[in-house]
Amino acid sequence: MKGLQVVNLKSALIIYESRYGTTKDVARNLSYIIKNAHICKASEFHNNNRDYDLVIIGAPVYYDNLDERIYKFIEDNILWLKTKDIMVFCTCMSLENKHIYLKKIYNMLNKNIINTKALGGKIIINNLDKLDYYRMKNFTRINEMALNDMDNYDLKKIVEYGQYIKKIMNNELIEHEVR
Ligand SMILES: Cc1cc2nc3c(=O)[nH]c(=O)nc-3n(C[C@H](O)[C@H](O)[C@H](O)COP(=O)(O)O)c2cc1C
Repeated sequence: MKGLQVVNLKSALIIYESRYGTTKDVARNLSYIIKNAHICKASEFHNNNRDYDLVIIGAPVYYDNLDERIYKFIEDNILWLKTKDIMVFCTCMSLENKHIYLKKIYNMLNKNIINTKALGGKIIINNLDKLDYYRMKNFTRINEMALNDMDNYDLKKIVEYGQYIKKIMNNELIEHEVR
């Protein structure tokens, strides 16, 4: 019966990148909630274990684009990823731009993506490297904004998202609820 098929998922791989630690934090928190998930940086992924039912890709947004290492990971592993169910989340300040930020990844993985999510990020000005600091300074000056720390991190949303993933892995959601 269409719409009532369960998705049969058991184990998950969380692949992420993170320049300043927020996306790593989100990925870690998700792995604590999901429990039977392996967590790995995209740039450190090795070929030895590919036996996962679900791949969760976590990408930070910088200057309207996802971390380039995420695209590289997808390109390098595209044939394998095309056999998997994939969830994608990004961390960013402008959650409402999710569809813009995830457009390229959506074009790359298309039918394999069962769900996308935008979660709030953080910018700590003192942690920025030189280039990011100057670009951010310019951006805020041009837009007549103050150069302040920004914090959109929302643990409650992360926990809800983790519980949602767990439900998918436990076959508790019907297909039309998944996307
Ligand atoms: C250099 C830089 C550029 C950013 N550009 C954007 C952006 O274009 N849109 C947005 O919504 N958030 C933007 N952010 C916010 C980040 O997406 C957010 O801080 C994210 O949590 C960073 O992840 P990370 O700590 O794992 O590196 C930017 C942050 C930095 C540091």
